[in-house]
Amino acid sequence: MKKNVRKAIIAGNWKMNKTRPEAKALLEELKPMVSDVKDVEIVACVPFTNLETALAATAGTNIKIGAENCHFEKSGAFTGEISADMLAEMGVEYVVLGHSERRQYFAETDETVNKRTKAALAAGLKPIVCVGELLWERECNITEEVIARQIKLDFFNVSAEELKKCVIAYEPVWAIGTGKTATADQAEEVCAFIRATLAKLYGADVAETITIQYGGSMNAKNAAELLSKTNVDGGLIGGASLKAADFTTIITAAVNG
Ligand code: PGA
Repeated sequence: MKKNVRKAIIAGNWKMNKTRPEAKALLEELKPMVSDVKDVEIVACVPFTNLETALAATAGTNIKIGAENCHFEKSGAFTGEISADMLAEMGVEYVVLGHSERRQYFAETDETVNKRTKAALAAGLKPIVCVGELLWERECNITEEVIARQIKLDFFNVSAEELKKCVIAYEPVWAIGTGKTATADQAEEVCAFIRATLAKLYGADVAETITIQYGGSMNAKNAAELLSKTNVDGGLIGGASLKAADFTTIITAAVNG
């Protein structure tokens, strides 16, 4: 990663895990372990029900809190949904959007990811927008086409100034929760391709400043190698973010990366 030009960000994606007492316990354990970290932004993206607990537990610390999704409308008859304004008002800073589990199980499309990204930006949140290819798309050699299409659609009508507030997470779908990590070279190849795509859309100067994370079975063992790559500026961590010691090891790898 290139820490001199862009921010290194390690974000945990807790998914549908942890009750409020469990969330508090995990963050209380994590806090002293990472309190000295300066050059790496630490984020915990937690279930909606844990947001208030997480914000209270991390107030005044170097751990930022994110949500795992938001709806694209400001308010209205959308039973069960949460708006970007509701999150921003609480003090939430980040929001994961377009995660492959949302695309796969909840029928989200690039069009709705784009709308959510615009809504999150309008509310002052920092979107972590996820892109990634399916295994058979990789096998059919269309990874770059898939990624370019997602980037173009997910950021449609997003200005350069707005893009600078976004993080992009490259998460190959075949690597998520499977224990199958992309090799560091595979991660670097696609993260570099994402940056080249952004350069075409926004110019090289803007593209150079955007944080691009890798996600998909990143863990305490493989993080250092992945984060040593020029275009891998951080990680979006699922399973390993649920263990304070493993998450801290990944953060330390980013500090040294
Ligand atoms: P994983 O999840 O680290 O458990 O593979 C990553 C993610 O889905 O963000």
